[in-house]
Amino acid sequence: MRVIMRTRAAMLIGALLCLLPLVSAVEDSAENADNQERGWAGTLCSPPEMALDGNSVISSTTDYSKVVEVMFHGAIGPSGERRLCRIQCLHGEWVGPMCQINVAKAPGGDIYGPLLRSCHFGALPPQLLVMYKNVSIVADTRVPFPDGTQVMVRCRELGVYKLLGESTLTCQGGVWNHQVPNCIPTTLLTNFTDDAPPTILVRVPAGSASVEPDGELAVFPGSIIHLECVFARKLGNPEWSWSSAFRQYLTGWAIAPEERDWKYRLSIYYSKPQDSGVFTCTTPHGLTNSVTINVVAVHCAPLEVDDPHVTARVEGSRLGHTAVFQCPMGFVLNGTANLTCHATGKWSGTPPQCNPVRCPRLRDIGDPHLELIEQNTTYLGRAYYRCRWGYRLTGPPGLECGSDGKWIGEVPRCQPVHCPPPKPPFNGRILEAGGRALSDGRYAVGSAVQFGCSDSHQLVGEPTIVCTENGFWSHKAPLCKPRCPYPGDPENGRIAPLKFYYEPGDHVKVTCNPGFVIRERTATSRPSCRQDGSWSEEIPSCVDYTQV
Ligand SMILES: *[C@@H]1O[C@H](CO)[C@@H](O)[C@H](O)[C@H]1NC(C)=O
Ligand SMILES: *[C@@H]1O[C@H](CO)[C@@H](O)[C@H](O)[C@H]1NC(C)=O
Ligand SMILES: *[C@@H]1O[C@H](CO)[C@@H](O)[C@H](O)[C@H]1NC(C)=O
Ligand SMILES: *[C@@H]1O[C@H](CO)[C@@H](O)[C@H](O)[C@H]1NC(C)=O
Ligand SMILES: *[C@@H]1O[C@H](CO)[C@@H](O)[C@H](O)[C@H]1NC(C)=O
Repeated sequence: MRVIMRTRAAMLIGALLCLLPLVSAVEDSAENADNQERGWAGTLCSPPEMALDGNSVISSTTDYSKVVEVMFHGAIGPSGERRLCRIQCLHGEWVGPMCQINVAKAPGGDIYGPLLRSCHFGALPPQLLVMYKNVSIVADTRVPFPDGTQVMVRCRELGVYKLLGESTLTCQGGVWNHQVPNCIPTTLLTNFTDDAPPTILVRVPAGSASVEPDGELAVFPGSIIHLECVFARKLGNPEWSWSSAFRQYLTGWAIAPEERDWKYRLSIYYSKPQDSGVFTCTTPHGLTNSVTINVVAVHCAPLEVDDPHVTARVEGSRLGHTAVFQCPMGFVLNGTANLTCHATGKWSGTPPQCNPVRCPRLRDIGDPHLELIEQNTTYLGRAYYRCRWGYRLTGPPGLECGSDGKWIGEVPRCQPVHCPPPKPPFNGRILEAGGRALSDGRYAVGSAVQFGCSDSHQLVGEPTIVCTENGFWSHKAPLCKPRCPYPGDPENGRIAPLKFYYEPGDHVKVTCNPGFVIRERTATSRPSCRQDGSWSEEIPSCVDYTQV
């Protein structure tokens, strides 16, 4: 948790304090007579304005009506060092903050002083690196540098840009003591125009060297260094000069055909500490660029890699030696992949860790029909989705957590499931549809459709079909087959066979009750069901035999 507290006084000084939770609030009470004497009490102060992570907060837990002093940890400067700070209530106004003087300067640690105005950088040239305590930091316009802070700046690529200005800046009362330098591109970047300072490329074919935080080239004794001044030979010869009086150096155009027209070289063989100094290349127009070389016999402590997953390829522990770290698949490297042994005898950082890959937890994407049923955010873990009833996934249901911590695949979508428009049978129709048909005649899942046949047709199959979850109807639409209706028994007789419906081609025969006979004219008739569902003739009637 970071708390930012601003009192009116603090704003006056322009110091931005990132405060950690309150340490203590000294109350003005009868026992606190000492304060009374010093006149801290009197008019008490209203609660100080505080901010937590940039949002204004009012501490409701503390009663400020009796508070005369607030102490807190301030996180001060670009790397957020913690220092104990305090504000005091003086005649109704908060005064301060006063913070512990840099502990290194005041070992007792009990001396408080005001925070003077901090310095900030404006927009920095993109090639400019800002080093604070020998570590490269991101110095955007919001980062405050407390009074007295010293930073070093250099251009990103040694020899490819030329630093114009001072490389050490000190914050003095809110302003830097020098103008912020610029990085100007050299010949290699300007396509060898003769108005640009020459590029200096450094090669170390034997031995080791490191580019130090301040931009110096630190070299282990005995190394061979080639400094190549990049300049178009057709524009004339540049010149090498050096500050060391130790010896003369071999200079001249490179010999290899692809280099001889643009690399003017100076070589330092078997470097010794006395070779240390500034090496400058000057073009015929008088433009210069230089590299500062410092030959020192320094060793770094052997690297200790604790994380068993880290694979390290360590060149050695001499100045300029590097260590390259790797993580196995499924792990991410947390830290820097390369370390260099610097002239301070320290590695350029600490060995990294290999942290297991974690994909970000997937969250609801706002589709009410989509359901995340499971997710495993580890490497090769999977996340599965499904759709709620009546919807189906478009695309594969799962994502896989990749080795880079990103999900492979796309979150699927849900689309409603529909059944195709049902086809009413010949000689039939839809009687009733439970469920809404869409404009194109399709139906949503769960809709039921009931069919009926026209007269003298028989429904064969399921009269009602339902649209199922997979987008198909539960059954085929029924058929309407022609049929003859049960014609009814004649009076005083029965027909056989007795059926509800008769298929085309079926015959019926009439049997009369005892004492009755079929009327003579029709005595032999056997009505049959015709192809169109009508009876071939009327059903004969039974009459009293006495009347025949
Ligand atoms: C930064 O590096 C320089 C030498 O390059 C060294 O003298 C100095 O002590 C270092 N500062 C810190 C804070 O490590
Ligand atoms: C560099 O200069 C050469 C010759 O002067 C020209 O042909 C080439 O196009 C230039 N390239 C760029 C990137 O400006
Ligand atoms: C990287 O390591 C540091 C220190 O061990 C830790 O604070 C940080 O959370 C880690 N970062 C990630 C992304 O795991
Ligand atoms: C680390 O070193 C390797 C091999 O020396 C190199 O290929 C790579 O570019 C370096 N990476 C960084 C980030 O410096
Ligand atoms: C997550 O996925 C990984 C890789 O497939 C597997 O090893 C692990 O057991 C899974 N974890 C759980 C809790 O299912």
